[in-house]
Amino acid sequence: MAKRPYQPKDYFFRKAKEEGLRARSAFKIDEIAKRFSIFKKGQTVIDLGAAPGGFLQIILNEVGPTGQVVGVDLAAIKPLGRPNVKTAVLDVTADDFAKSLEALMPGPVDVVVSDLAPKTTGVKDVDLARSHRLAGIALDISRTRGKPGGHFIAKLFMGGDFDQFRADVRAVFKDVKVVRPDATRAASMEIYLVGLDKR
Ligand SMILES: C[S@@+](CC[C@H](N)C(=O)[O-])C[C@H]1O[C@@H](n2cnc3c(N)ncnc32)[C@H](O)[C@@H]1O
Repeated sequence: MAKRPYQPKDYFFRKAKEEGLRARSAFKIDEIAKRFSIFKKGQTVIDLGAAPGGFLQIILNEVGPTGQVVGVDLAAIKPLGRPNVKTAVLDVTADDFAKSLEALMPGPVDVVVSDLAPKTTGVKDVDLARSHRLAGIALDISRTRGKPGGHFIAKLFMGGDFDQFRADVRAVFKDVKVVRPDATRAASMEIYLVGLDKR
């Protein structure tokens, strides 16, 4: 029998269930947020590729009831039971995406987060190109909507134009970190780029 690339019901999967979190990925944003003091109470945050809502649960706790959060995804996100979060089914690659996002949350934002990931095809170059395209869209949103001093977190697959993307983030933010959170599955080629202190 072929070896499975990962054990689905692993430590973080069980921990997420125990803590009422929608996805094990919640631990990734939690780790990044704590390590770099990303969020503050009352902030505005955009979460791209937000379904089922694990990141959103952590972000809502971080920004508290005075914060404002928007989460968008191709898939619908079940209600989170908080008045200060809006979710919408949107395709970030659509021509009118920036406009739709602006309608949901007008004005400058403190933090843009992207956990966008393409459906993988198994063809490495295709998956890399799609991942980098999605991360590039997130960076554009951060560039146009982020407040000076704000932060950016984006997932992307390692390889391909990774160095160029890091340079692109560096052009917008004073500091850039590359993080592979503990909750990342061993077989995964994903990494997070963290842009700190927008210029
Ligand atoms: C790893 S999941 C996100 C998990 C989420 N951060 C959480 O904690 O629950 C990646 C998401 O990216 C979304 N996605 C991929 N391409 C997209 C696109 N073009 N527009 C919007 N969402 C997209 C997928 O639908 C998927 O839900």
